[in-house]
Amino acid sequence: MNGQGVNGSHSNGRYAQITGWGSYVPEKILTNEALAHVVDTTDEWITSRTGIKQRHVAGNERETTAVLAARAGREALLVAGLPPSRLDLIMGATATPEYMFPSTASLVQDALGARAAGAFDLSAGCSGFLYGLNMGMAAVRSGMADHILVIGAETLSRIVDWSDRNTCVLFGDGAGAVVVSVCTDRCGVLATELGSDGSGGQLLILPAGGSHQPASLESVSSGGHFVKMNGREVFRFATTVLPKATEAVVRKAGWQLADVALVIPHQANTRIIESAAKRLNLPMDKFFINLERYGNTSAASIPIALTEAVAEGKVRPGDKLVLVGFGAGLTWAAAAVEWGVPPARTTRTFLDRLLAQLGFFFAGIRSWILRSERHAYNWAMGPVGKDDWRGHLRQRLDVWRSKVRRRFTRRD
Ligand code: COA
Repeated sequence: MNGQGVNGSHSNGRYAQITGWGSYVPEKILTNEALAHVVDTTDEWITSRTGIKQRHVAGNERETTAVLAARAGREALLVAGLPPSRLDLIMGATATPEYMFPSTASLVQDALGARAAGAFDLSAGCSGFLYGLNMGMAAVRSGMADHILVIGAETLSRIVDWSDRNTCVLFGDGAGAVVVSVCTDRCGVLATELGSDGSGGQLLILPAGGSHQPASLESVSSGGHFVKMNGREVFRFATTVLPKATEAVVRKAGWQLADVALVIPHQANTRIIESAAKRLNLPMDKFFINLERYGNTSAASIPIALTEAVAEGKVRPGDKLVLVGFGAGLTWAAAAVEWGVPPARTTRTFLDRLLAQLGFFFAGIRSWILRSERHAYNWAMGPVGKDDWRGHLRQRLDVWRSKVRRRFTRRD
């Protein structure tokens, strides 16, 4: 896809800056050594072929994609110093949503108390976060939105076949998020590059559970609800698109490759990143890598890596960054970002944290009240449109309730 229409020269003086970032991973760690007790593999094989040493995995059924996403979103909002009520939109990129519907983003909207925000999920495999960043940039620059939360969140441990050594060693769970806000200085997300080649869709796929093969006894017994991957083909695809997308987005931003301070690639395999570095003729120290600790967290990998790169002081104001990824679809995506946030802006006091936590606590209470009220009302009033005194009372009360609800859910 051509991102020309949203590049710098057409910005109307509105730019889309990353003002907040955050990540969250489950506590439970699964090392290569521990995995070697589960499938026929070794630490030596996984390390030498992928670079991965360990991954975080959801430790209990309460650690779901929406929970990880909400935690990463909270961190990002805290860094941005933005109350959730000022968000216009929440985008959740995930291949492992909480449900087919409602969207994980809607659940996060409720958990955060983002009363004025629209919310939706998007599916672009491991490129999903950068697809979201692209849409976030376009919405902010066009004036459609001022503040957007883009989240990449996954619980891939729930969809990998733990008896398939070709895939289970690669993936991990986690979430990362950024707040994209309007600014008037020329900085932030300056250009993007998106691409797709659906002819390779079968190379990385979760075959069952959709309209092609709905859930059935057979789909379950044949393992259709687990990730299937042709590793070699995906490897070949990744080593081609990673350098190409990087070059394309650098060109669109009007930069030279030599201007780039740091490339934050999708964290799938060190060998893929090394191959891209070679093709781009860039030294490896220009690539941020943390996959040895997380494995491939799909849509979450780039925002988790960005958050760590900032925390480690590897991103400074004025730095030119390239975020670049690839994944199921097949898809690829890249973003050219000029970092604009001074480090001092990102340190939050104890009081800031406390106030934010209180806000999230009240968001939980608000959600509980809304749900309880809906249940109690439906129970007390019976079915809609019934021609008796309860039906007539319900009709009157519905008008009153919608007025109250509007007041309760509107922006501050
Ligand atoms: N432990 C030990 N041996 C393993 C293994 C494991 N976990 N997984 C595969 N093997 C074996 C294979 O069975 C094969 O054995 P064979 O030659 O007897 O058939 C051998 O190792 C080599 O397999 P191969 O597929 O050639 O390995 P590779 O060097 O291509 O590495 C991947 C495999 C999956 C690591 C690599 O292809 C890859 O990273 N692909 C991209 C995957 C990816 O990034 N996916 C996500 C995209 S978002």
